Amino acid sequence: MAPVVDLVAGARPNFIKLAPVERAFRDSGRLTTRIVHTGQHYDPGMSQVFFDQLRIPVPDVHLEVGSGSQGAQTARILERYEAHLLATRPDATVVFGDVNSTAACALAAVKLGVPVVHVEAGLRSFDRTMPEEINRIVTDALADLLLVSEPSGMDNLAREGVAAQKVRLVGNVMVDTLLGEVEAARAMRVPAALGLEAGRFGLVTMHRPSNVDDPRTLGALFDLLAELARELPLVFPAHPRTRAAAAAGGLMERLSAGDRIRLVEPLSYRENLGLMAAAAVVLTDSGGMQEETSVLGVPCLTLRENTERPITVERGTSRLVGHDPARIRGAFAEVMSGRWPPSQGIPLWDGQAAPRVAAAVEGWLREGRGA
Ligand code: UD1
Repeated sequence: MAPVVDLVAGARPNFIKLAPVERAFRDSGRLTTRIVHTGQHYDPGMSQVFFDQLRIPVPDVHLEVGSGSQGAQTARILERYEAHLLATRPDATVVFGDVNSTAACALAAVKLGVPVVHVEAGLRSFDRTMPEEINRIVTDALADLLLVSEPSGMDNLAREGVAAQKVRLVGNVMVDTLLGEVEAARAMRVPAALGLEAGRFGLVTMHRPSNVDDPRTLGALFDLLAELARELPLVFPAHPRTRAAAAAGGLMERLSAGDRIRLVEPLSYRENLGLMAAAAVVLTDSGGMQEETSVLGVPCLTLRENTERPITVERGTSRLVGHDPARIRGAFAEVMSGRWPPSQGIPLWDGQAAPRVAAAVEGWLREGRGA
């Protein structure tokens, strides 16, 4: 009988990574996959629309954990995924990225002796105030097979003493999705639907606690956006966390720069990609968008002090600007004057990472490493 592998996803970026990997396993036909949705993201606009657009099959299991504090959410995922594993044990569990669902499911699996594969292993921001950094460290410490997206991940794992035979550099599966969807995304003409001209607007997203949880930081960022919008119209799809923080701090009106800032609901994958591909500049604290803009060749002002994806700064189009208005203003001016360095291309971000993931997992199971 073909081995059975659980593919676990809980939050938006996971869905984008799971889609090509699930398809690669299906195409190779050597093992059976089961999709486990933890329910960490549950709004239709944060979850279902990704399944629809990326043609991800309906999950075999839905754990329906919902939102909660870091501890409560992680604990709920751990408990419910453990129950699923006890009822029906797979040959391996594949987890993606760095969200709470990633670490919690890796922990549940490994404690029951189910081997764990981590896709997007080895990334480190070296900033332990980020919940994602803790999730990365925990998941990599537990994983049996670590599949890495960029060279820094290989260095980090070697430094942490992870045995080389457990680690493979496979490239970035998110890029597989991007390259597969970008034509359809462009064809939607999303900028025009928002009354914007391609190449003449900026795209803004932010949801990290370091930017949105303190009303002074968020208020200053909003004031700066209103200032930049006088030069370039901005689209701002607001994550529920950001919207809630802005409403609680009474900050919403600080964004009202005439109609120069379009505040919209979280976008579908293709809408967001269509906007990114046509934007003059992206301002974001998203890890995935640093990568996507680097592939698309769009300047990216990364609203963070550090990144676990240094290749996007070294070879891509991203620059770390924190949330300091002077730095953001300076970088924005460079973009507007056409002086932003172009992307140099990133090795193995070629649209073929998911088949390499499938081959690595299948080979590893055949050799009995998962046993
Ligand atoms: C999570 C990930 C983050 C990722 C982001 C992508 C962790 C630690 N963080 O952050 O790495 O970049 O997803 O979006 O796992 N909410 C809704 N509807 C939803 C989901 C969330 O309204 O469908 C609201 C809830 O108020 C919730 C808050 O957003 O409490 C935060 O959601 P959560 O999944 O805990 O973390 P994110 O900030 O989305």
